[in-house]
Amino acid sequence: MRVYVLNGPNLGRLGIRQPEVYGATSYADLVANCQATGKELGLDVEVRQTDAEAELIGWLHQAADEEAGVVLNPAAWSHYSYAVRDACAMLRGPLVEVHISNIHAREEFRHHSVVSAVATGVICGLGVDGYRLALLHLAGLRDRSARG
Ligand code: DQA
Repeated sequence: MRVYVLNGPNLGRLGIRQPEVYGATSYADLVANCQATGKELGLDVEVRQTDAEAELIGWLHQAADEEAGVVLNPAAWSHYSYAVRDACAMLRGPLVEVHISNIHAREEFRHHSVVSAVATGVICGLGVDGYRLALLHLAGLRDRSARG
């Protein structure tokens, strides 16, 4: 099963960016962790990050065409990008939305994600463990569908 782990703006600065909010794990470590989890679970995981909305939308179109699973941290776009939401709505595989921080315990503008309504499920506030949990969920879906 092909899985894209897609990250939105500023997540490339993990580890440096507000570590009190997002933790000490660097983006490079996050990529390595997701790849290791993918290997362990037999998922074909590709991890990407962009600060350009059009690029993310292109990746979502690619995932839709391939019927791939997606783990998406839309970062700040979660809160206002109808374009990202519309691209997510076109996906044909499962979509797990991940937030490292607990967006509900932060500033009010972060409490709502326009993406969540079109996601299969949402994980937030569990730090970078959220990515691993999302991949575990997708592997479970794959196993259940293989069993029929
Ligand atoms: C985030 C939360 C967003 O509000 C923020 O804009 C981010 C990261 C998170 O992972 O906790 O960039 O999605």
